[in-house]
Amino acid sequence: MSQEGVTEVRSLSDHVGESVTILGWVESIRIHGKVGFVVVRDGTGLVQGVLLKAELPEDTWVLLEVLTQECSVAVSGEVREEPRAPGGHEIGVTGMELLGASEEYPIQPKEHGVEFLLDNRHLWLRSSLQRAGLRVRHEVEQAIHDFFYDRDFVRIDTPILTGAIGESAGTLFEADYFGEPAFLAQTGQLYVEAACPAFRKVYCFGPTFRAEKSKTRRHLTEFWMLEPEVAFADSDDNMCLQEDLVCYLAERALDRCGREFAVLERDTSELETLVRPFARISYTDAVALLQEKGSEIEWGRDLGAPDEMLLTEQFDRPVFVHDYPKAVKAFYMKENPDDTRTVRCDDLLVRGYGEIIGGSQREDDLDKLLARIREEKLPEETYSWYLDLRRYGTFPHSGFGLGLERTVAWITGRPHVREMIPFPRLRNRLVP
Ligand code: 4AD
Ligand code: MG
Repeated sequence: MSQEGVTEVRSLSDHVGESVTILGWVESIRIHGKVGFVVVRDGTGLVQGVLLKAELPEDTWVLLEVLTQECSVAVSGEVREEPRAPGGHEIGVTGMELLGASEEYPIQPKEHGVEFLLDNRHLWLRSSLQRAGLRVRHEVEQAIHDFFYDRDFVRIDTPILTGAIGESAGTLFEADYFGEPAFLAQTGQLYVEAACPAFRKVYCFGPTFRAEKSKTRRHLTEFWMLEPEVAFADSDDNMCLQEDLVCYLAERALDRCGREFAVLERDTSELETLVRPFARISYTDAVALLQEKGSEIEWGRDLGAPDEMLLTEQFDRPVFVHDYPKAVKAFYMKENPDDTRTVRCDDLLVRGYGEIIGGSQREDDLDKLLARIREEKLPEETYSWYLDLRRYGTFPHSGFGLGLERTVAWITGRPHVREMIPFPRLRNRLVP
């Protein structure tokens, strides 16, 4: 079998009145007396085939009677416009061939428990909500590349096997690298920082790994992160870039994912009314505001998920919380000259999800950075190359990390990040 002479469902409107062949999988079958309907999904869309017993060879009608959900088929016939049919077209079927049987397909059109669906993730991907969510993810990924390409950023592919701790020792996956310890990358940041003096504006975008102990709807152990890094940008410039990017991603999804939003029943008004500038509040003011609203947070503690949620409810748009206490943030963040207890960083919080971006200006002073590495008891030798960036032409610079799955969950309005990645890796799940 080849693709020669095969039509994709998405282009059926160009073939009205013509005879076509469609290859795909059967979503549903209905038979009313001498008329049958079969809905076929070919990955580009859905089309309904109509079969009239009186006009078909007998074996084609017999095939219809034994078709089952998700068997693969070739369907031929004439394309007609039919506004009531899924996709707006139907095929007056003249021939049908079974390509692959599908007996007792596990996922039925009824409610299933989520663990069952995750066990069957390789099949669950075919379901309409999953297709819609992953298509939005695809659009957002492409939009990220377009955004940075248009702004002359150079993409740097950073290593996944690393020798230095990128974020924190607590969530490392360790591997054996010919007898030496290696870690799966928690971040590509240290490497994009190194590429800054070569290209000024750079980004990486790839899988990152965290041995998260907690099982929450916001945490994966493998997730995709976008990390831009810009030379001579300060923390304020950094927040402006984040704002521009998030607005662009929302606009792109609104522009190109209308069908997916309809399937997901997403009320998109939150995205349509997104405006720059986003709200900005210092960590210190945020703590005071949260206390006023009944939270038990105290200055110096990190914001937990409930605090983040409460905070986002106080604003009509996404909110940057900036200048957190040094003690709750990573070693590489720049000390705030106005208040040395804090660092020049920001988290971008959105309604329903909390943090989707974490960013900062980087410590560019060699002695201060070294002191932080020692304070955190990080293995100094593995950072000597990173410290070189402060020895040879140090420069102010800033960057951030945007979590792809959390961002797509927010854009699609789906509650859980695990549906926003084709094959989620969770604390209890490495299969499929
Ligand atoms: O705030 P994080 O840890 O920042 C960094 O890794 C920096 N190196 C980024 C940088 O400045 N270049 O992570 C950034 C984002 C979070 O805001 C969140 O969206 C996402 O990554 N993230 C996760 N997403 C899913 N599951 C997890 N376990 C995540 N941990 C972080
Ligand atoms: Mg963070």
